[in-house]
Amino acid sequence: MTELLTIRNLGVAYGGLLAVDDVELVIHANEVMGLIGPNGAGKTTTIDAICGFIPHAVGTIALGGQAIQQLAPHERARSGLVRTFQSVELFDDLTVRENLVVAAQAPRWYSLVFDAVRPNRARSFTAVDRAIELTEIAALSTLRPNELSHGQRRIVGVARALAASPALVLLDEPAAGLDPQETERLGALIHRLPSEGIGVLLVDHDMALVLEVCDRITVLDFGRVIASGTPDEIRSNDVVIAAYLGSSSE
Ligand SMILES: Nc1ncnc2c1ncn2[C@@H]1O[C@H](COP(=O)(O)OP(=O)(O)O)[C@@H](O)[C@H]1O
Ligand SMILES: [Mg+2]
Repeated sequence: MTELLTIRNLGVAYGGLLAVDDVELVIHANEVMGLIGPNGAGKTTTIDAICGFIPHAVGTIALGGQAIQQLAPHERARSGLVRTFQSVELFDDLTVRENLVVAAQAPRWYSLVFDAVRPNRARSFTAVDRAIELTEIAALSTLRPNELSHGQRRIVGVARALAASPALVLLDEPAAGLDPQETERLGALIHRLPSEGIGVLLVDHDMALVLEVCDRITVLDFGRVIASGTPDEIRSNDVVIAAYLGSSSE
């Protein structure tokens, strides 16, 4: 199986606190990888470091075999790493569709080839239409963010990430605040992404969702990987159970 994202010895320190401590993580093409752990375990910090938002992070990060740890955030995004945030920030004066069009403008590394045969506009609109179709938000596309429910805004946040044509999408708690029906639809969408050529790193508190849609799961506790395996292996892992029982917040 091809390694899409390969992380070795990733470390992030804040003063004396090792928020991410010697983390190894390999995400293959065509898989959904879950990243779970108690509050403060280092999940968001890991995503931040992968995307280049933490300049003092150490370790190596490769995307499709190419080292990217020296690249700036926008360069990593252009090479196919796209994230969502725990809090969704949409442009309030743009429609849902326009929010996606803005996200789709950032050209990918292969755009030089595509630009030769297709105009830029056509390429972004294709990506936007595909994102709208995948997330089933066509009925919302002319609305503005302030006309959406919390759950709809979160789905639009995911759609906007997909409009940027990611090779790997990093989802930070996409199901937070969704009702059970919205969560189920989101789960089905996430599960479908690898067959659309998009790898997924899913961080979420909803354990049922993570166990349902992930092919493999990595568990963090105090910044360290304490377990990694299939949902069945994680479900029955004593170290994981102890970490969660020891955490009062979850
Ligand atoms: N900018 C920061 N400065 C100092 N400490 C931080 C910063 N960001 C996160 N931390 C700390 O790093 C640890 C991991 O945080 P985070 O990655 O947000 O955890 P998670 O997403 O798993 O809940 C926590 O102890 C948190 O307080
Ligand atoms: Mg977090």
